[in-house]
Amino acid sequence: MRKASRTLPLGVLTVLLLSQVCSGIKWLALSHTPASLHINQTLHCKQLAGMVSSQAQLCRSNLELMQTIIQAAREVKKTCQKTFADMRWNCSSIDIPADSTKYSPDLERGTRESAFVYALSAAAISHTIARACTSGDLRLCSCGPIPGEIPEPGYRWGGCADNLHYGLIMGSKFSDAPMKMKKAGSHANKLMHLHNSEVGRQALRDAVVMKCKCHGVSGSCSIRTCWRGLQDLRDIAMDLKTKYLSATKVVHRPMGTRKQLVPKDIDIRPVRENELVYLQSSPDFCAKNDKMGSVGTQDRQCNKTSMGSDSCELMCCGRGYNPYTEKLVERCHCKYHWCCYVTCKKCERIVERYICK
Ligand SMILES: *[C@@H]1O[C@H](CO)[C@@H](O)[C@H](O)[C@H]1NC(C)=O
Ligand SMILES: *[C@@H]1O[C@H](CO)[C@@H](O)[C@H](O)[C@H]1NC(C)=O
Ligand SMILES: *[C@@H]1O[C@H](CO)[C@@H](O)[C@H](O)[C@H]1NC(C)=O
Repeated sequence: MRKASRTLPLGVLTVLLLSQVCSGIKWLALSHTPASLHINQTLHCKQLAGMVSSQAQLCRSNLELMQTIIQAAREVKKTCQKTFADMRWNCSSIDIPADSTKYSPDLERGTRESAFVYALSAAAISHTIARACTSGDLRLCSCGPIPGEIPEPGYRWGGCADNLHYGLIMGSKFSDAPMKMKKAGSHANKLMHLHNSEVGRQALRDAVVMKCKCHGVSGSCSIRTCWRGLQDLRDIAMDLKTKYLSATKVVHRPMGTRKQLVPKDIDIRPVRENELVYLQSSPDFCAKNDKMGSVGTQDRQCNKTSMGSDSCELMCCGRGYNPYTEKLVERCHCKYHWCCYVTCKKCERIVERYICK
């Protein structure tokens, strides 16, 4: 008997093509999780948006961690938008909808912007977990270890170090999971996303600073208790923004026995561990283009006196801008009263602002 030839209906084909995209940051859709959902049962894992199967498995085996991961997704969104508030691309594409049918995977195209988002996401998830260990939100981890070296005179180790080690292990397990799947996405994109995630984690390791508290009679600070803490995510994001601005374009090429990412420019060298890499050039983000993840800069506020990326010239792409006035209400003429309160008056000030045509 002859086998009936099977043709896939168009709908199935579309689904197959979509699943070819490596949705490594779809978990950021977790930022939409209602604050009222208290994750304490494995069946809650099904209600969460954007996770691949191995991430859902991690959810079921470590429910307690999920609350922290959801918080990390919110942090990524907030921090990305703040960090890029003065740029034409203002991180608008990061708002990954919980409804996967509305998902437009422009951040999966392998651009410089996606490089930044992957690096920030990887850093943020480990950062949030490391801090959650310190604040006692997680039962499976606590403070980081006390450093081995002997502190300087007048200093002693104490307090509670951020648990970077645990943060890095659990964070990478979760955020790298989509790129470790066999099927999803092209090899080149997966390599790019994994590399940039590692750059983000390296930026986090570089953000360990010594934090101290003073002790001694009436604030004399004769002895300081110190621990290893992490800088704020905002600072790490600024570091990654610098790396974004100097990111390297790469191509996927055979190197030895395997295909690797190598810089596109002529000087032959391997990709460096601390540089962000991208495969595709970005548009200029001046005009609206949904496919490219560009919302355009029309109606964006610009700064007439700035010389930087938020200047009206650069932000408005030469289209010009319109002024408008805004009334600011500020506290002023503040007076200190003995003892102990301050009274202020309210002053109004008119400021001129500009938005792009
Ligand atoms: C889960 O959390 C909710 C809200 O805090 C609580 O009402 C419920 O009893 C908890 N369920 C279990 C199984 O612990
Ligand atoms: C980004 O820019 C678009 C277009 O001007 C604007 O609609 C959106 O509110 C901006 N997003 C943020 C987070 O500022
Ligand atoms: C505009 O840019 C100038 C110079 O960088 C800065 O001092 C000022 O605070 C900016 N104004 C606004 C409204 O952001």
